[in-house]
Amino acid sequence: MNRAAVIRGIGAWVPPRIVTNDELAEELDTSDEWIRSRTGISRRHIADPGMATSDLAVEAGGRALKSASAASVDCVIVATTTPDRPCPATAPLVVSRLGLGTAAAFDVGAVCTGFLYSLAVGAGLITAGTAESVLVLGADTFSSILDPQDRSTRAVFGDGAGGVVLAAGTPDEPGALGHFDLASDGTGSNLITVPSGGSRDPIRADSAVGADPYFRMQGKAVFRNAVERMAASALRVAEARGWSVRTVDLLVAHQANLRIMHAVADRMRLPRDRCAVNVDHVGNTAAASIPLALVDAMDDGTLHPDHRVVLTAFGGGLTWGSCALRWPDLVPG
Ligand code: UT7
Repeated sequence: MNRAAVIRGIGAWVPPRIVTNDELAEELDTSDEWIRSRTGISRRHIADPGMATSDLAVEAGGRALKSASAASVDCVIVATTTPDRPCPATAPLVVSRLGLGTAAAFDVGAVCTGFLYSLAVGAGLITAGTAESVLVLGADTFSSILDPQDRSTRAVFGDGAGGVVLAAGTPDEPGALGHFDLASDGTGSNLITVPSGGSRDPIRADSAVGADPYFRMQGKAVFRNAVERMAASALRVAEARGWSVRTVDLLVAHQANLRIMHAVADRMRLPRDRCAVNVDHVGNTAAASIPLALVDAMDDGTLHPDHRVVLTAFGGGLTWGSCALRWPDLVPG
């Protein structure tokens, strides 16, 4: 088959308000030293009250369309765990707010792996001939589901959005997508969860005490799984492309924690300085993490056209996945 989905544009956006570790330490029993040494994070961006995921997605989507010089797309996919409302999906709203007419639109729920899953779905729509172009966004406002008293999650998560425009091209051009590895393990569904508010434990107007609407994470178990799964998955896609690890120029891993990224690189026997890192200033932005890291890596000069890039992510579900591609010549929007 001589048709492939190719990345033609990229954009990202974070809300302007910055929350530093010291500011968190004013309201929680934590410290800048603890957060920095255990996660590599020094600050994160947090949406102002009233700002929702579609607001972030529209900003990032507009930038990605500008980067691709695209006035329209056939479909918009929004990977998110924090939709504006439980129903309907956020993507149709993003389509109308971006002036994209009646483009197809739906959300993908794969938590922090959502962007990679959506990239695979978008690429599939193009290679199947169902769409000529797709805007794939990862957008999350995790601050809206964090327990204000939970220092382990408030230290880690930030809000943001990012995405790419895919269009039909050929498999041999830079930016062509083709080598995906996607997987899940639902036996670990309780390790990352929002216990209440779904069909298992609905929250109703008269809900009894005991309902828990907040995001919960068993950090240590997630940490171990994340390292093991991302390293193995990233190696699989590199191998599928026929790349030896030493020829990979940049590993763009889900920005969950600097220690996780370094452990993944160590397992792969990849030098740590080939990891893209922006977790220090944005934290873990869930589905937005990989496109935000790509844009920052382009801006700071660590990612260049034709680089051999491996994307890898891990998140709730449990879900994980990777993709290997040669980086295209783009200017972020
Ligand atoms: O995005 C999806 C994937 N997510 C991830 O990959 C996240 C994976 N997990 C992590 O990044 C880390 O597990 C955390 C950063 C969340 C936690 O770090 P940790 O080194 O695994 O700490 P821990 O959860 O084992 O907790 C150790 C101690 C506990 O105190 P005790 O029970 O030993 O007294 C925690 O209560 O550290 C405490 N702690 C904190 N202390 C100060 C947890 N959070 C904080 C905090 N400040 N912010």
